[in-house]
Amino acid sequence: MPSRSESRESRDSDADERGLFDLTGRTVVVAGGAGLIGTALSAGIAEQGATVVVADAAPERGRAVAEDVDGAFVETDVTDEASVESLFETVVAEHGGLDGLVNCSYPRNANYGRRYEDVTYADWRENVDLHLNSYFLVTHRASLVMREAGGGSVVNFGSTYGVQAPDFSVYEGTEMTSPVEYAAIKGGVRNLTRYVASYLGRDGVRVNTVSPGGVFDEQHPTFVEEYERRTPLGRMARPEDLVGAVVYLLSDASAYVTGHDLRVDGGWTIC
Ligand SMILES: NC(=O)c1ccc[n+]([C@@H]2O[C@H](COP(=O)([O-])OP(=O)(O)OC[C@H]3O[C@@H](n4cnc5c(N)ncnc54)[C@H](O)[C@@H]3O)[C@@H](O)[C@H]2O)c1
Repeated sequence: MPSRSESRESRDSDADERGLFDLTGRTVVVAGGAGLIGTALSAGIAEQGATVVVADAAPERGRAVAEDVDGAFVETDVTDEASVESLFETVVAEHGGLDGLVNCSYPRNANYGRRYEDVTYADWRENVDLHLNSYFLVTHRASLVMREAGGGSVVNFGSTYGVQAPDFSVYEGTEMTSPVEYAAIKGGVRNLTRYVASYLGRDGVRVNTVSPGGVFDEQHPTFVEEYERRTPLGRMARPEDLVGAVVYLLSDASAYVTGHDLRVDGGWTIC
């Protein structure tokens, strides 16, 4: 066992190596931290020295991720006002403050993913409500807690499909599509982010989006082949590809960056 002073020295030297990207002593909430992308982000953020609080509606996976990263889990429904308020109260009470928020939950109803012709008005409304409105709720409450404490960083998850329209040819020969709600939700998240970045800039709260391209998750092989063919870097994203962008936006390395949309898409949106 290393002595206390040895552990402190090794922590200090880790922090020196991380330099501007060091997150030691910071508390970062990862909403959706038990998901495909959130699991990788939780690990990557903890690796930079932060205390990660996984906030997710899935308690079993959420607890497992929190345990893996030596962090905490708070069962949270991001679509519920009382649950979101209680999340940030708990974080401030138990960790002494809130330095970062990563919003990468993906709430949707059972009919999400239908083709354009089959989307009912009720499903459109529910899915836009669950996803876009919860991103507002979580951003709003976290950013005001940060303002009170003198600053912080919010990273919202957008998508390439919040930047440009889908190329439907990549879905040909499969049952897959890109849902119409997603275009409105992710375009909305991107512009919501810019609004809050502008509103809270002078309060030291930075707000940015990360817009990933498609992440490989055992999709239909025809889709994967077509997606890779259309992507300049020639492959789909891996969850780990998103870690660097998020750590950058949470850390002092991005101290003069706000309202930005950082695309991590293998070049998809340049074509
Ligand atoms: N996977 C991709 O290809 C991709 C591409 C671009 C953007 N994104 C975006 O990245 C984000 C994360 O996507 P993912 O693929 O990791 O999704 P995912 O479905 O794997 O994970 C989402 C997480 O959100 C949690 N969640 C759902 N509803 C919730 C609620 N009401 N309250 C709290 N937690 C809830 C789920 O339990 C899950 O752990 C989303 O915003 C998504 O739109 C994903």
